Amino acid sequence: MTSITITRPDDWHLHLRDGKQLRSVLPHTARQFARAIIMPNLKPPIVTTEMALAYRAQILAALPETLYGSFNPLMTLYLTENTSPSEIIRAKESKAIQGIKLYPAGATTNSDAGVTDITKCYTTLETMEQNNLPLLVHGEVTDTNIDIFDREKVFIDRILAPLTQRFPNLRIVFEHITTRDAVMFVKETSKSIAATITAHHLLLNRNAIFQGGIRPHYYCLPILKREIHRQALLNAATSGNPKFFLGTDSAPHAQTNKENACGCAGIFTAHAAIELYATAFEQAGALDKLEAFASFYGADFYQLPRNSSHITLKKEHWIVPEKFGFANEKLIPLYAGENLTWKMT
Ligand code: NCD
Ligand code: ZN
Repeated sequence: MTSITITRPDDWHLHLRDGKQLRSVLPHTARQFARAIIMPNLKPPIVTTEMALAYRAQILAALPETLYGSFNPLMTLYLTENTSPSEIIRAKESKAIQGIKLYPAGATTNSDAGVTDITKCYTTLETMEQNNLPLLVHGEVTDTNIDIFDREKVFIDRILAPLTQRFPNLRIVFEHITTRDAVMFVKETSKSIAATITAHHLLLNRNAIFQGGIRPHYYCLPILKREIHRQALLNAATSGNPKFFLGTDSAPHAQTNKENACGCAGIFTAHAAIELYATAFEQAGALDKLEAFASFYGADFYQLPRNSSHITLKKEHWIVPEKFGFANEKLIPLYAGENLTWKMT
């Protein structure tokens, strides 16, 4: 196959940051995707509808003129132990907010304001269930006694499984799943739960972090896992099961904050997102499954219309730039300086 045309995809998990950083990264996403679910982990986090609407206006104002009107940011609120049921109603009524994000406190970048005790959120979760507003979950426990490679599995057992039992009609997106355990859990649990999968977790296993030295640009959370888990993710993504769909988790950090004694978690993939997924699907011999994963199942789960426009990918060798501008700093993209074989026209 030398060319494929698919319905324009959506990115169901994206970090855009704000200010000048936002202006640097937004065009990468808006060029490829019609819509994206925008993560609320800014400093300070987006905790009210009012803040989310202001952030949305900031994103729209940051779009380059050529992309104006062609990209729709779908907003989220950051769940805290103080998020009130009335805030949930306001969020729902705004129509701009498509989900509420649960970060276990301390799990990842800018998550200090996250949830320590999920039982404190029960009334709010009940309101979400009643109002059909999905919960988006960063599924890792933060207990430092738990091995970093086991944090997703332990989260399923301790938090997620009980949550799905207590709130059977709450729609849940288990974000950026990284393990075979998560794949099995999502498959076997009710139709209320679905999962996003990143391109980097489809393409890489944990060896990438330690290839000939320590490689900070392969460090993200949840951390890359063993090959058996990558295989399970690839099988899920290419299986045609509508519970699994695209979410890049593209998470830009300045080069200086990555190449650091305590480097930030996050991999930037927005520069070549759909091409990276195409590469993974091609390796699995499943390019025919790319369109539904990238463009149908996410919209269906979020109960939004599918896109009507199309994009075309061509088999063409190109070299990923070594770096991009990022406000006043530099941003190192995934596969910087390396060859890719698919290119969006
Ligand atoms: C994300 C970020 O940098 O905001 N980092 C990451 O490694 N994925 C936060 C997150 O989604 O966990
Ligand atoms: Zn993320």
